[in-house]
Amino acid sequence: MKALVLDKHGDLDSLKIVTYHPKPEVKEGHVVIRVRASSFNYHDVFTVRGMPGIKVPMPVVIGLDMAGEIDTVGPGVQGWKAGDRVLVNPLNKKRGLMGEMMDGGMEEYCLVAADQLIRMPDKVSFVDAAALPVAYGTAHRMLITHKTVKSGDRVMVLGASGGVGTGCVLLAKMLGAEVIACAGSEDKLQRLKELGADHVVNYKTTDFSKWALEKYGKPQRRTYEGGLDVLINFTGGDTWAPSLRCVKRGGMILVCGATAGHDPKEDLRYIWSFELKVVGSNSFYDDDLSALMTLISEGRMKPVVDKVFPLEQAVEGLRLIRDREVMGKVVVTP
Ligand SMILES: NC(=O)c1ccc[n+]([C@@H]2O[C@H](COP(=O)([O-])OP(=O)(O)OC[C@H]3O[C@@H](n4cnc5c(N)ncnc54)[C@H](OP(=O)(O)O)[C@@H]3O)[C@@H](O)[C@H]2O)c1
Repeated sequence: MKALVLDKHGDLDSLKIVTYHPKPEVKEGHVVIRVRASSFNYHDVFTVRGMPGIKVPMPVVIGLDMAGEIDTVGPGVQGWKAGDRVLVNPLNKKRGLMGEMMDGGMEEYCLVAADQLIRMPDKVSFVDAAALPVAYGTAHRMLITHKTVKSGDRVMVLGASGGVGTGCVLLAKMLGAEVIACAGSEDKLQRLKELGADHVVNYKTTDFSKWALEKYGKPQRRTYEGGLDVLINFTGGDTWAPSLRCVKRGGMILVCGATAGHDPKEDLRYIWSFELKVVGSNSFYDDDLSALMTLISEGRMKPVVDKVFPLEQAVEGLRLIRDREVMGKVVVTP
């Protein structure tokens, strides 16, 4: 079968489309699924480059997110049969993340532990389901499961054009927030407006922190006036210190990643003077994914899928993410 295989860390040319990758054999407690869709995340860029402290067993098929139909059911598996439509939670309880510590979704067939399967409602497509776990699941946990955003809040999203970013914009709007979406090109800003963002800021040409101070006023230490209620920052790097300056007293900064650097310059004065809450959020659980599929079924949300590629063009899909040329998600249909 065909698979997208990483055999050494490096640039994207470390990825190969292998035509004769062995089809996995089913085993106790597992199923083999026919993968219908798999999506990329920025995490795949990190996996290809290599991350300090994470030893990826090579060769490995990348791709954390996947949805498909059950092909073969292994011994001891109850409640599932061939043909069932499933979304996979990529976290394997024994071995870690699929697509990193074990083969993932960028292949025609994939071996999956039965406790990672989530039933897909009929109205949800494979492409939409595969767009969900890492990006939208994380956004769902950060905003809804952790109950961080409420109606009327002024919520700024940095990196709003990406997978997690578009998820945050859509969910914050659904919760009734006033959403300020920040991205790096006019084209992305136009599309974020179409998604429902109330305001858009090009943070390459405009200082997002100053923009927020001018629009909502300087945060006040005594009265709770001025500033943003919530700022969502999974970019880190140079965006961290300016983020602290534009959040209101008692407001929140939500963090689930650091695309541009995890050890930014800090300014603790803002955290105590303005009683800021820095709220971390990590990954997602089955309940987040089922809740998102229910929202799709009910027509209340649709993940933003920019491009759908066949497996043969998968590397180009990951290049678009690496080079920040994507709006939402890139999905591959092996
Ligand atoms: N903790 C968790 O469980 C978890 C789960 C999912 C994701 N994450 C993390 O969250 C971050 C976003 O993930 P994602 O999959 O949504 O990524 P993505 O789709 O590639 O989106 C990232 C966005 O950030 C912006 N950006 C700002 N600075 C950047 C830089 N130096 N390099 C690349 N992009 C930059 C880009 O938009 P502009 O070009 O418009 O600026 C891009 O659209 C990543 O750091 C990821 O590791 C963590």
